[in-house]
Amino acid sequence: MREHNVKLSLLSTLADGTFHSGESLGEQLGMSRAAISKHIQGIQAWGIDIFRVQGKGYQLAEPLTLLDEREIQSQVRNPVELHPIIDSTNQYLLDRISQLSSGSVCLAEYQKSGRGRRGRHWVSPFGSNLYFSMYWRLDAGMAAAMGLSLVVGVAVVEALERMGLVGVKLKWPNDLYFNDRKLAGILVEMSGQAGGAANLVVGIGMNLSMQDKGKNIDQPWTSLADVIGGEHIDRNQLAIQLIRALDEALQQYEYTGMQDFVERWNRLDNFIGRQVRLLIGPNEIVGIERGIDPHGGVQLETSEGIKSYIGGEISLRKGD
Ligand code: ATP
Ligand code: BTN
Repeated sequence: MREHNVKLSLLSTLADGTFHSGESLGEQLGMSRAAISKHIQGIQAWGIDIFRVQGKGYQLAEPLTLLDEREIQSQVRNPVELHPIIDSTNQYLLDRISQLSSGSVCLAEYQKSGRGRRGRHWVSPFGSNLYFSMYWRLDAGMAAAMGLSLVVGVAVVEALERMGLVGVKLKWPNDLYFNDRKLAGILVEMSGQAGGAANLVVGIGMNLSMQDKGKNIDQPWTSLADVIGGEHIDRNQLAIQLIRALDEALQQYEYTGMQDFVERWNRLDNFIGRQVRLLIGPNEIVGIERGIDPHGGVQLETSEGIKSYIGGEISLRKGD
């Protein structure tokens, strides 16, 4: 059995949240208790809390619902691959674009090198959050790619609202916020052009029930568990609804461009009417945020009037 297949098999036994002795786990997998103990340490390194109680065995700190490729595939039109352990779902698709059809999805339980914009690290512990990417061939080409993270953000928040999860907002250009804390991030990457079309990969990382594994994140963050307030989240259903919403929004964007999304974005903009700072390289501009313009640029009002800003190097920060 491959290294991580042993750990995955251990996890699916422990997923029920009850105690399992080292001996019974060892018998099940045909290995010693010492070998089991080593694998348990490996699982802990993925970001999962497991207790060991003398005389009882091992128990997960919380029961785990693992993602189920067959369940997800049966409810979406997109080809779906689930890889429990991966470097980055975005990178996986980027490396395979020539073999994929537009709309293909890759999901993971754990990312070893999950990333955000400009190569920043995306904290991706096993099983507690959602990490997935979709490949999209955009016939309108590179110029249209800029608006894509905005369109995806709108689609994801609206899908959450349809599921009864209200209060989630957007931060230009690629974040979902709840109570001024980062709940999810969107990363659009390009693998180059084929003819006039752009090959894009859209990745989403959404925190569902991340606890102390997020303690090193250097900005305020939150999880969907806080939005729901203790209710159970069905991770498979959530993945299904988000894949469908993304697919639908990307199709719509192909036909209508940004025009249908500007008002929808502005309704959900977390900072509209609030003082913000725009960081542009070494420069900083302070002003009142006025939502986005028809091209997807963020509008800032200062003493000089309202001006739009657009480009991958710009970061928006709360100004008060
Ligand atoms: P901007 O996109 O405006 O430049 P940002 O600081 O959010 O802002 P991103 O590249 O979008 O930067 O996202 C990566 C950042 O997100 C990391 O530097 C870290 O601060 C934060 N982060 C990393 N993992 C998570 C996570 N699981 N949940 C919430 N925030 C995270
Ligand atoms: C951001 O806020 O900068 C975007 C974070 C995007 C994280 C997701 S998780 C799935 C996909 N794979 C990655 O490596 N990154 C994105």
